[in-house]
Parts: sequence; structure tokens; C-alpha cells
Amino acid sequence: MSIFDKDIESNSPPYLDRGADDYVLIVDDDPMNIRVLGNTLKEEFQVRFAKSGIEALEMIRLSVPPELILLDIMMPEMDGYNVCEALKKDVRTKHIPVIFVTARDKPEDQYRGFLLGAVDYVTKPFNQEIVAARVRAHVALKRYRDQLENHISSINMKLLDRQRELDQQRDETHMMENLLTHAQKMSALGAMVSEISHEIKNLVNYVMLSANSLEGMWEKVIPLIEQRVDDDEADLYFNQPVERFKRKFAKSFDAINEGVHRIKTIVEELKEYYRKQGEIQTHEYIDVNKVIESALTFLAPAIRESTGNFQVVYEETPYVKCAYQELEQVIVNLVQNACHALEGPQQSIQVRTVRQKNDDTVGILIKDEGVGIPDENMSKIFDPYFTTKTDTGGTGIGIMLSNRLVKKNKGKLSFSSEEGKGTIATISLPAFINKGSG
Ligand SMILES: Nc1ncnc2c1ncn2[C@@H]1O[C@H](COP(=O)(O)OP(=O)(O)OP(=O)(O)O)[C@@H](O)[C@H]1O
Ligand SMILES: [Mg+2]
Repeated sequence: MSIFDKDIESNSPPYLDRGADDYVLIVDDDPMNIRVLGNTLKEEFQVRFAKSGIEALEMIRLSVPPELILLDIMMPEMDGYNVCEALKKDVRTKHIPVIFVTARDKPEDQYRGFLLGAVDYVTKPFNQEIVAARVRAHVALKRYRDQLENHISSINMKLLDRQRELDQQRDETHMMENLLTHAQKMSALGAMVSEISHEIKNLVNYVMLSANSLEGMWEKVIPLIEQRVDDDEADLYFNQPVERFKRKFAKSFDAINEGVHRIKTIVEELKEYYRKQGEIQTHEYIDVNKVIESALTFLAPAIRESTGNFQVVYEETPYVKCAYQELEQVIVNLVQNACHALEGPQQSIQVRTVRQKNDDTVGILIKDEGVGIPDENMSKIFDPYFTTKTDTGGTGIGIMLSNRLVKKNKGKLSFSSEEGKGTIATISLPAFINKGSG
């Protein structure tokens, strides 16, 4: 065993494992040189050889690249400098260490070799053990560098994964903040609505009382008018016969009463809506038709504004177990989207309920004849902040929020749409108990 053999054993760290395909390539046009170098290295390395620069390049490109190349300079057709240059230009081969082994021993030759990217330069005639030691050192360095690169790239991958996780967390936090702001706005709005509705109710009561007393007084005045005013005078004072004037007056009282009652109901419902928004939602057995009805109370003005063709079709459906207010909010979001999608009042919106016996669910379908959703947007509409309504203040959280609420109530929200024809949004909820049996 030579001193170098001993060095290999003691100096080979376990992490510098050699792969089964690793080899050292000798490139020389003189078979004698190949033999001598091969014998020098064959105990420690797998050795292959090429007899010209062109053969060497072909071999390297077509199979596994070598761990190191021992390269002669003076060869016919393509000299060693050109081979080295070609290797260093190619990203796939530029990392392979090259040692020139040559009879050209002038400093400028050596300098040129190093300039071209060689890691070492051995002049002939050479000492075999020293060449073996140099090859060993450079191969070890290369293996070490390869492992370092692998390690760094695995660290980079981990960093990238972590970065992705952080981005996701940041998006989630951002979304939660927005939802919180939304909830806070709703609660502030609720308090304001509650105050305003109190004021309005006071005023409404005042109007109602005044209208009632006016009506009472009017009833007392009628006989006097009838006694004292004949038809000619009536034409003069009221522009019409007394009878018609009396009817009109009575109708006006009815209209005042009805209007005032409507104001009262709307204010009550508004107050109730915001009160429920702030409540903790409990799951109860509910009739989806009722939820639709109450959602439509709020939506009535928006619907009136966007279509002259609105229809609700209720089917007798089983109860579902669901948070009333959450379902109401989902219906409001989806009907609002349908209203926004219409291009003119002749386009229709239909809301209908169906009992889907095949999978025992209750379906709420909101169908519009609006612009439709282009295929490329279909997968995005569930994403937070995806909106095509930036110019009209869309926030792009309506569907995302609705989807969450429907899922929370064990249901499913789906869309089918055709661009230019319209959209059907379907909420499916598990049917719970038949009405009348529960
Ligand atoms: N019925 C529909 N017809 C056509 N496009 C629709 C319909 N419903 C939803 N979209 C598309 O999906 C997008 C996302 O809807 P989403 O309700 O989440 O947000 P938005 O309506 O834009 O804003 P907001 O948060 O105020 O509801 C809309 O901007 C629109 O492009
Ligand atoms: Mg919306």
C-alpha cells in the first residue's frame, strides 16, 4: 500500500460518496499515454478514455458526464484548448474539472490553460503518484461542491415552500381583517339604523295620530259641506262634484295610512335585519321559502331597478337545518349579483326552490338572463377579491363569503353559466325533515 492509498482511506470523509456511474475521462491521441495514466488511476477510479477531442465531447454529451477530465493539449483536428473552451461554454459541462496533461511546459501555455478554466496543469513526464494525488484532490473537491450545491438547492426549495406558506398566511390574515372590518361596519350600521328607526317610528306615530285626528275632524265637516254646498258651488270650490271630492278625500286618508304602515314595516324589518346580523347564529329547522321571502323584502328596490321580469317559484320543500340569517345573507348576495349581471329591464331573474329527491337536498336556484360568466373566470369567482365590478365598487368577497356560509351549513354552492346567455347559481342544502312530520 502506498502512502497515497493510506491517504485515501483516512482522508475520505463518508459524505463524499462516489456514485456508481462516476468516472474519470482521459483524452489523449497517444495510446501509450492513455495506458500509463489509466494504470495510475484505475485502482481508485473508473477510467474511460477518448482518443480525440471530438470523440471526448460526443461521449460527454451523449452519456453521463465524467467527474474529471485529464486532457492532452496537442491533438490533431481539435486541440485540448479548444475542447476545454467548448466544455466551459456549455452549461451542462462547464462544472467538470479539467486537468491538462501535456508536454507543453512553458509558463504561457500553462497560463492559457488556467485562463480557459482548467483546475490544474500537469507536465509530461509526470510522477504517477503526484498525478493520482491531484486527481484525488480535485475529484474530492468536485464531490464536495456538488453536495454543497444539492444542499443549497434543497434549502432554497424549503425556503420557497416556507415563503409560499407565509404568503398564504398573509392572504388569510388580510382576508380575516377585511371580514372583521365588514363585521364592524355592519355593527356600526346596525346601531345607526336602530337609532334612526327609533326616530322614524316616533315621527310616523306623530303622522298617524295627526292623520287620524284630521280624519275625525273631516267626518264632522262633511255633513256641513253637504248641507251648505250645492253642486255648482262644489265645482267652484273643489273643481268637482261633492261626492267625488268626498271619495277622493277618503282615498287620500287610506293612502296616508297605508304609506305610514309600510314605512313602519320597512323600518321594523331593517332593524330586525341588523339585529340578527349581530346575533350568534344558531342552526334551526327552517323553511327555505320563508328565508327567500324575507331576503326579497330587502332586495325589492334593487330588483325593481334592474328588471321588469322577476319571478319566484316556490315548491313545497322539506325543512333544512341551517342558520336562518346566514342563508338569508347568501340569497341576498346571489340575487344582488344577478341584478348586477342584467343589461336591461327586459332580461329576467327567477328564484325558485326545488326538492331534489335523488340526493335528498333542497335546492335554491337563482337564475338570470344577464351577461354570464366567461369560462376563464369560472374558477376565479370563489377567490377572495375577484371582481369585475371595480368601477362600481365591487369588493369580490360576495361569493367567497357565501360559499363559506353554505359550506358551514353543510351545503354546496355551485354555478353554471353561459357567456351572453345568463347564469344559474344553486344553493343545495341537505333536506332534514318533511313538513308536518317533524
Ligand atoms: N350572476 C352573475 N352573472 C355574471 N357574473 C357574475 C354573477 N355572479 C358573480 N359574477 C362574477 O363573479 C364576480 C365575483 O362575485 P362576488 O359576488 O364575489 O363579488 P362582486 O359582486 O364583484 O363584489 P361584492 O363583494 O360586492 O359582492 C363578479 O364580479 C362577477 O364578475
Ligand atoms: Mg357580489
